[in-house]
Amino acid sequence: MVKKSRLLEILESFKSIKIAVIGDMMLDDYIIGSVDRISPEAPVPVVNVVEERFVLGGAANVVNNLSTLGAQTFSFGVIGDDPNGDRLTNEFAKNSINVDGIVRAEDRPTIVKRRIIAHNQQLLRLDWENKRDISPELESKLLRNLRNCIDDIDAIILSDYDKGVLTPLVAKEIIKLANEHGKIVTVDPKPKNAGNYVGATSMTPNRKEAMECIGLDRIEDVEKLGRELKEKLNLTNLLLTRSEEGMSLFEEETVTIPTFAKEVYDVTGAGDTVISVFTLAAAAGATWHEAAKIANTAAGVVVGRIGTSTVTKEEIVAFYDELYHEWN
Ligand SMILES: Nc1ncnc2c1ncn2[C@@H]1O[C@H](COP(=O)(O)OP(=O)(O)OP(=O)(O)O)[C@@H](O)[C@H]1O
Ligand SMILES: [Mg+2]
Repeated sequence: MVKKSRLLEILESFKSIKIAVIGDMMLDDYIIGSVDRISPEAPVPVVNVVEERFVLGGAANVVNNLSTLGAQTFSFGVIGDDPNGDRLTNEFAKNSINVDGIVRAEDRPTIVKRRIIAHNQQLLRLDWENKRDISPELESKLLRNLRNCIDDIDAIILSDYDKGVLTPLVAKEIIKLANEHGKIVTVDPKPKNAGNYVGATSMTPNRKEAMECIGLDRIEDVEKLGRELKEKLNLTNLLLTRSEEGMSLFEEETVTIPTFAKEVYDVTGAGDTVISVFTLAAAAGATWHEAAKIANTAAGVVVGRIGTSTVTKEEIVAFYDELYHEWN
């Protein structure tokens, strides 16, 4: 692992880094209550609602991760012109996140995943979404917004949940723009869109996604899988995440970084934390190998906790101290 002084130096630089996130911004809506009877109207439980909680989701969770780590963020996405859009904007504002690059569309709903939970059990999930590609007008608007601030940012993250924002045109134009301006551009991909990401700096698929990106349906040797995907998409490097097996970074050489989570409670959002920390650390001057190790430590913090998917610099340092006291 990196030396403590080096880790602190990298984390300290986070606050001067500016990162743009483009992708499918979502709102997670948790309705939490208890059940003590079945409805007289239909054979369904009646939930007595105790609490409703809104959480930034999808690409907005990547933004939240970056912002929690002290980076300056620029968010680009499309939300609806509806009350859920107000709620999403409100959650961004609560976290002091700039939303100038978010466009509100009249013909699409804000993406919401509403979960109804009672006694720690999910009873139902309700989704609002329209997955069709955004219109050419919205594509131009998003690209224009990004072009306007390209000189101000250090890196770009494409967070693809396949909900229509990262159309082939948007993805390809952004990668072109990033390369023209010498900016890092990393992608959390949806495999069916892999072809849009040729020439990106890096990608952070999990193993299954990596297989699907190159059209494989059976388990392949990780080394072969990573090499093939990196080459196929002409990436500078590739970070393949492997759940409990940690991650493998493919550069000239391949390095495997084992997981450090001691107890695993909740793996949701670990992928968002990985791409956020990996990109932020690299933009802050870390080598890709250092960035991957720090991202892996951060993911270890997130999977060890229930219900939150962001991590602070202090939590990364505390977990590092627990794991590597002999390095201090
Ligand atoms: N069961 C686990 N035990 C320990 N660490 C884990 C576990 N699952 C995930 N991690 C950590 O989180 C990282 C990302 O996890 P994973 O490979 O599952 O990504 P993902 O499938 O993209 O996640 P997501 O569901 O958030 O999209 C791993 O590289 C590892 O550091
Ligand atoms: Mg993922």
